[in-house]
Amino acid sequence: MEEKRARLFSAVQPSGIPTIANYIGAIKNWVDLQDKYECIYSIADLHTLTVKQVPATLRQRTLELIALYLACGVDPEKSTVFVQSHVPCHAELTWILNTITYPGELARMTQYKDKSRNHADNVNMGLMDYPVLMAADILLYNAEVVPVGKDQKQHLEIARDLAERFNNRYSPTFAVPEGIIPKVGANIMSLQDPAHKMSKSDPNENAFISMNDDRDTIIRKFKRAVTDSESRVAFDENRAGISNLVSIYSVFSGKTFAEIEKQFEGVGYGEFKIEVAEAVASTICPINERKNEYLANKAYLDKIMIEGKERAEYMARKMLAKVYKNVGLYTPERKS
Ligand code: TYM
Repeated sequence: MEEKRARLFSAVQPSGIPTIANYIGAIKNWVDLQDKYECIYSIADLHTLTVKQVPATLRQRTLELIALYLACGVDPEKSTVFVQSHVPCHAELTWILNTITYPGELARMTQYKDKSRNHADNVNMGLMDYPVLMAADILLYNAEVVPVGKDQKQHLEIARDLAERFNNRYSPTFAVPEGIIPKVGANIMSLQDPAHKMSKSDPNENAFISMNDDRDTIIRKFKRAVTDSESRVAFDENRAGISNLVSIYSVFSGKTFAEIEKQFEGVGYGEFKIEVAEAVASTICPINERKNEYLANKAYLDKIMIEGKERAEYMARKMLAKVYKNVGLYTPERKS
């Protein structure tokens, strides 16, 4: 008999064109994890509404993101791929979890503080409640593992706290999820300001490599990447810019830091940057081509989304019924 595999859940927001940081920190690893876990990969569209979106753009980005998942190697035969808003249980469980969440624990979240600063004209309840919706995403599927980049660690902690709090207050219901954070590339930094993370919503386009960038753009952006006045190619915590490039190169070339340092001994930053750009382009450009092929077949993408929704909703409904029962909500029984 086939061994029951542990559940895994992860998601990306369709809030902009994904960058190589989203690929390195999340999607690339999802592909490798598909044979080990029962994987559920979502498009977190409800999360994006916490900052202002242009409705038509959001719809298009949702399609593009599912096309990207498939182009990167997420296989809908192996994994459940669906859009968060298509399964209403996510919003329903968020309400229940809200009743055991304290405003103070949400107000101290780094992302909430950053986004409140960056979107001062739109500090809304959803922005604050963001981690609770994320906890609902995970707990709804009883996911035991959650592969994410380092920036989501705090949110994962809240999901763990809420699972434990719920289990203690009511009865054992949720698995307490563990994060899978990659050893290299969990925190890819901006190419223009290596003190800050690379983000798809950065207003400076030179700060990130988008998954849509062509080879020339990738080379141009890496050439302009901010480094330091030394010239030794090495991973060194005191030199964030070059360390970031070494991490990126390590992920795309499969080489260790030691191998990279040896290979580029005596080589200047300029030459190294071109090598990094070439390694990135040789992975990203074919993915982009495949993505465009998927995008040209909207009917297929719709079919994948509908099938994914059905599979996800089946699991989610079962879990939500258990939650409703455990908190004491009455369910009438149909006798005839
Ligand atoms: P999002 O869309 O901001 O990012 C998607 C994934 O990319 C990772 N990531 C990074 N990894 C390395 N370096 C970076 N600079 C970097 N920036 C982003 C993120 O850690 C993430 O894994 N809230 C989530 C989406 C979400 C989710 C979930 C994730 C919604 N529900 C449930 C896991 C489980 C987010 O904003 O991702």
